[in-house]
Amino acid sequence: TDRYCVFGHPIGHSRSPAIHAAFAEQTGEAIEYTAIEAPLDDFVGAWRAFVAAGGRGANVTVPFKEEACRLCDDLSPRARRAGAVNTLILEADGRTRGDTTDGAGLVSDLARQGVTLAGARVLVLGAGGAVRGVLEPLLAEGPATLHVANRTAEKARALAADFKDLGPVSGGGFDGVAGPYDLVINGTSASLGGELPPLPEALFAPGATAYDMMYGAEPTVFLRWAGERGARTIDGLGMLVGQAAESFFLWRGRRPDVVPVLEALRKAL
Ligand code: ATR
Repeated sequence: TDRYCVFGHPIGHSRSPAIHAAFAEQTGEAIEYTAIEAPLDDFVGAWRAFVAAGGRGANVTVPFKEEACRLCDDLSPRARRAGAVNTLILEADGRTRGDTTDGAGLVSDLARQGVTLAGARVLVLGAGGAVRGVLEPLLAEGPATLHVANRTAEKARALAADFKDLGPVSGGGFDGVAGPYDLVINGTSASLGGELPPLPEALFAPGATAYDMMYGAEPTVFLRWAGERGARTIDGLGMLVGQAAESFFLWRGRRPDVVPVLEALRKAL
């Protein structure tokens, strides 16, 4: 049995062990997947110890994604650009490879739900690590425009500059936001505090989709607000399962079916 885990701090509420157990059962892959709380001051040591104990790979969550990126011997281009790693892979020669699957999870969830990115006018709210991790896969789908709006405008402008060779990306503050958009993705952590970024009434084009990277038993404030203005609303549970499926694929070369796993998780929320 090959060993995998998710590292975080705290890690108690992680759904990753349940998701990967379901993937393993579905595909017949003999893996064990646990949650490990790494010490805040020694993430590298935690990974080394896990490898010494037979670990083959790991997911990485808050607050270790940047540190995980720095420890890797090899990085995928998308992880290098994101400056963050959510998937560690132990290679046959003992080197550690890092990748980031959050953006691929988001893009695959959007595709599964029939949301078209190609040619779409896309607004992304937030300019923190969560947004940095998804911009490259989003831009690869060929949106007509992708605007990043953030409370701190300068962070959004700097982020857009870092990705501008990949597509038509711009950045600014919330005050400059004017619709209509076909897709609005909330990547701020404002939902956690039940807060709503200041947004104009006429944000959504007809048939638009609002996507929140967060999820919960109840719709987020952002999704409620968007639904009241006629947008289709989708929460981030599919992105969570999607990024897990991409990590599983990187480790095992097999793509699990996300649908039954997503349905089971939804019921348990
Ligand atoms: P994460 O890993 O979740 O992206 P982060 O890097 O700390 O965490 O980024 C948090 C993001 O949520 C930022 O874009 C932050 O805006 P600032 O850059 O201006 O700080 C945004 N954010 C957090 N709370 C917010 C709120 N109440 N309203 C609007 N934006 C908020």
